[in-house]
Formats: sequence, structure tokens, C-alpha cells
Amino acid sequence: MHLLTGQTLSFHADPFAVPFGEACTLRRQGGVLIEAGRILAVDEADTLRAAHPEAEVVSYGEDLICAGYVDAHVHYPQTAIIASWGLRLIDWLNTYTFPEEARFSDLAYAAQIARRYLDLTAAHGTTTMASFCTIHPESVEALFTEAQARGQCVIAGKTCMDRNAPDTLRDSAQSAYDDSKALIARWHGRDRLHYAITPRFTPTSTPDQLAALGALWGEHPDCLMQTHLSEQTDEIAWVRALQPEARDYLDTYEAHGLLGARGLYGHAIHLTPREIERLAETGAALVHCPTSNTFIGSGLFATAAIKTRGLSVGLATDTGGGSSFSMLRTMAAAYEIGQLTGTTLHAAQLIWLATQGSARALHLDHEIGNLAPGMAADITVLDLASTPAIAQRQAEAEDLWEALFPTIMMGDDRAIRATWINGARVAGTA
Ligand code: GUN
Ligand code: ZN
Repeated sequence: MHLLTGQTLSFHADPFAVPFGEACTLRRQGGVLIEAGRILAVDEADTLRAAHPEAEVVSYGEDLICAGYVDAHVHYPQTAIIASWGLRLIDWLNTYTFPEEARFSDLAYAAQIARRYLDLTAAHGTTTMASFCTIHPESVEALFTEAQARGQCVIAGKTCMDRNAPDTLRDSAQSAYDDSKALIARWHGRDRLHYAITPRFTPTSTPDQLAALGALWGEHPDCLMQTHLSEQTDEIAWVRALQPEARDYLDTYEAHGLLGARGLYGHAIHLTPREIERLAETGAALVHCPTSNTFIGSGLFATAAIKTRGLSVGLATDTGGGSSFSMLRTMAAAYEIGQLTGTTLHAAQLIWLATQGSARALHLDHEIGNLAPGMAADITVLDLASTPAIAQRQAEAEDLWEALFPTIMMGDDRAIRATWINGARVAGTA
């Protein structure tokens, strides 16, 4: 049993729906009691210390203890090509992404990158991610094997593509169905692992493949389904040319059984009113990837307006289209895009998006994304004075939100004092 002490932040409501002060509880001298991978209690440190004298105390002083970050859309196979210069989406995929993804037919290479990726993300305070893999079942095998060894909650799926991709990166409607089904049987629900059916996007999946994966989802409705939607205007025009019979981009998924409450739609920037309406009716989740959207030049996602429509929104790095592994940097980019779309996001909303918001999008908010009794002990501890520049601003702060905001805007892995996954410290110091 461990008792982590420091400042603690827990949410009990959505700060986009209620004033942020009512949405969360902040304790200056709080404690989080954990045992066997679970959070047993969150309370005043003194109360917990008195009630559990046997607990081993890990003191984080004035550091902020919050839920581990949940990155709702990544491509772990793009780890080695993150920050590749100069191209827009389709050229970027062809030039950098596809050649790198072709290497994942080799299980040893896939395992090496999976380890590197999970080490990097743990160092950045990320405890769960939903990852696209490559078309190779080996790429899924590698990530799940490594995540399982770390006791980590990870969502992943084989990325399916049967057109507009190099020969070495194409499967077929049938093999995508067969391979995905076999991977579901092997991995879905094993320890903390969850399978997501993963058509990359309409440009690289024929209607036959989309239909096969829609049928598979119908057979496994407890799986998530992850894909991309309306990221760039050129992409949308291409989808229109490929499937002129569809009402819009979303319809290319809906017509094939790929629209549902457990659907995750990455980017979703340039939506029509009908698409927003249908996504809201369905209860589907949109995943905002702000560093990717600025880096690849995709556009501005209107987080606050989309939240007002009642849509579920998760936050994500989109490694390696995104330019950082850090969910702090990602929150900063979400803030900047909020400014450019006319809505200033509060620090509480940004942290909520990176924890509860993403966990809700993944339908795992009963398990991850909050500091509360019964939740998994996946925890990130933030040093709010991690660099001289941040420390001098933080020293002037009048309250916790003002103290936290410079770390959101200027922080990186140096701000991660510790990351705990499944009740064990995996990065940082005790
Ligand atoms: N659309 C389809 N595939 C991808 C990808 O790998 N990254 C991004 N950013 N967009 C995509
Ligand atoms: Zn993506």
C-alpha cells in the first residue's frame, strides 16, 4: 500500500458543462492511497495517514498529483518519423509514413519501436493511449505484448488499407476482416488491453473493406472502432471523388456500419452540419489532435462549439503527425487553437480533456482518467516549477490554476515528476 501526498486534483463533473470550481476538488495537502493497482481513497493527507499508518508514504511536496494522461489517438509506428518537415497530409503519408510503416512486418523492429514509444510516453506522463498500428498483425502483437508486460491499459488495432497505398502495405477486405477478428480473439479484454477495429480512412479502404469491418464491428460491438474523418480539405475532395454516391465523408462510414457510439473519429475538423448532427445523435466521439492540425496545416477544431453540441471530445497527440509526445504540449496547442477560434479554454478544461475527456471518448471512464476510489492507479505527478522560466512565473501565481497554467503552456517531460501505471512507478522519482 502506498500513500502519495501532494496537491491533488479530482473531477466530478465536466468543466465544459459546469463552472470549473464546481467540476473538481483540489486539495492543497491531499493524499492518494493506492494498493494492488487501484486507488483506494483520495482525501486529506493527514486523514489518510492516520487511518492507514501501515501505508508507505511517497511525499511529492507541492507537486500536483492528477490522473495519468490519456492520449486518444496515436500512431505508435510513426514514433521514429515524428517531426518530418514540410508536407501536407497525403504527401506526408506517402513520403514519410508509408515507408516507415512498411518496416513493421518485422516483429523485432515493431517490438523495438513499441518499447521506445511506451518509454517516451511514460516519461511524458501518458498512461493510456489508443493507437493505430500498421497493416501487419505483428505490429499489434508487439504493442500489446509490451503494454501487457507493463500492466498498462492500451487500445490498439491493425490499420486496414486495401487501396491507394504501396503494394507492401495493402491487405484485402477478407484478410483485414480475418486478421482483425483473430487479433480480437487473441487480445481483446486480456488484462488491460482492448481492441479497436481500425480502418485507416476512406481513401485507403474500398467500400468492400469498409463493409467487412462494419460487419466485424457488428459481431464485436464491445470493441471500439477508430478512424480518421475530415482532416484536410484535399482529403475531403478526394473522398467525394472516390465515393460520389455518399452524402458526405461521414456517410462513407455510416453506409458501411462504421458509425456508432463506440466510434472514435480523429481530427473531424471540417464537418458539415449534417455530419455534426449525426455524430451527436449517435453519441460518437471526436478526437482533437491540435499539434498535428497545426503541424500538417489541417485547420482549427472548434472544441468549445463542438462540446456545446453535446459531442464527446477526446484529446490526442496524433504521434507522429503531431509534433510532440507530450500531452502538456498538446493542451497548450488546444489552448492556442481555442484562442484562434474565439473561445479561451481554462486550465481545468484542458486537464479534463487530457484525462476524463479522453477516457470518456474511449468508454473507459469507469477505469481511467480520474483520481477517485476504484479507479486504476494510473497517475501523473507534475512539478509546477520544472524550469527557471516556469518557476519564476509560477512564483507569482495567486491560485493553483495560475500556478498550473505556465506548466501547461511551457512544460514538457521535465515537468513530469513521476508517472505511476497500475500502482507502480514507471518514470520519474519516488
Ligand atoms: N489520415 C490517414 N492516416 C493518417 C495518419 O497516419 N496521420 C494523420 N495525421 N492523418 C491520417
Ligand atoms: Zn491519425
